[in-house]
Amino acid sequence: MLHDVWYAACQAADVTTDPRMVTILDHPYVLYRSHANQLVAVDGYCPHRGCDLSIGHVDNGELVCPFHGWRFDKTGQCTRIPANRADTPIPKRFRLTTYPVLECSGMVWIYTGNQDINSSELPTARSFATFPELTDENWRGVPFQQTWKAHFTRVVESVIDVSHLPFVHPEVTGTDVDPTVDGPEYHVRENVIVIHPTPFAPSHPMEPVHPEQTSTAKSEIELRFPNQWIIRTPFGDHGMMCTFLTFTPINDHVTQIFGLALRNFDHDAPWLDDFHIDHTIRVMEEDQRIIESIRPKIAPFALRDECHVASDVPTIRYRVMLANALEQQSTRRSSSTQITCRGID
Ligand code: FES
Ligand SMILES: [Fe+2]
Repeated sequence: MLHDVWYAACQAADVTTDPRMVTILDHPYVLYRSHANQLVAVDGYCPHRGCDLSIGHVDNGELVCPFHGWRFDKTGQCTRIPANRADTPIPKRFRLTTYPVLECSGMVWIYTGNQDINSSELPTARSFATFPELTDENWRGVPFQQTWKAHFTRVVESVIDVSHLPFVHPEVTGTDVDPTVDGPEYHVRENVIVIHPTPFAPSHPMEPVHPEQTSTAKSEIELRFPNQWIIRTPFGDHGMMCTFLTFTPINDHVTQIFGLALRNFDHDAPWLDDFHIDHTIRVMEEDQRIIESIRPKIAPFALRDECHVASDVPTIRYRVMLANALEQQSTRRSSSTQITCRGID
């Protein structure tokens, strides 16, 4: 799977000076806030005897293991071993690996890429990119999350699959629609796939109470490879409602979905929050039942392993992007290994 990615780990409000464990791609991370609210992400288990560091505590900005009291600073370096005399040197290798971490739109994101490569190649928070709606203060975002027992690939593919809409979500598309997908209308640029889910322009959840929404309003889906997705639906003359999702592979069997119900109007209308969230959760639960049933669990790269039609083109494009990204990741890792080996020689 792809490790060289920023994955959403949890809600930012859930990270405090109390260490918190999260798992991404089967790897345990501990998150906590150090001095001045600074986020720190480190390996989840102590290098001494493997104690779970999330049951430790933070003291004076340092993470303290609950088993023998070893302390680690925000760079992961062990700074104190209480069982040793204070002047006993601490080897450099007595440390926790740290990971790039940042906060954006109420979520904490961890870069889970290979920490063995030259640290100058690791991304900084500046390299993190998302959709403009997440960082523009004109947008209000209401968070939600779901856990699906399905592989990351199947979950992501489900949100760029247009032809399932009239079958899985008849309440959204209407029960009498022609299921023919003429296209679908889509384009790809760099790491983005944009799809217009025509002819299934979703009737908006607010339509009954806001009849001013025009029937010509066209929704747009955008997938920012590999794990961020948004659907934009024009609303009324100037407004827009969006649903943002990001996908985090916990392991090969479970994917965590973090979402935001976004709108750029009527920020102070709690009933709009509820309406948008309720609609989104209902649609997602319809998807979940289907996606968790899929076998094989991991989407196959070999085209002949499944049957494809024209409406599956965005999915195929995603698989090609994923295959290329995995190949680049593996090239980076093997060149990093060669450098390490040369260093040893
Ligand atoms: S296991 Fe952490 S200090 Fe011993
Ligand atoms: Fe769906």
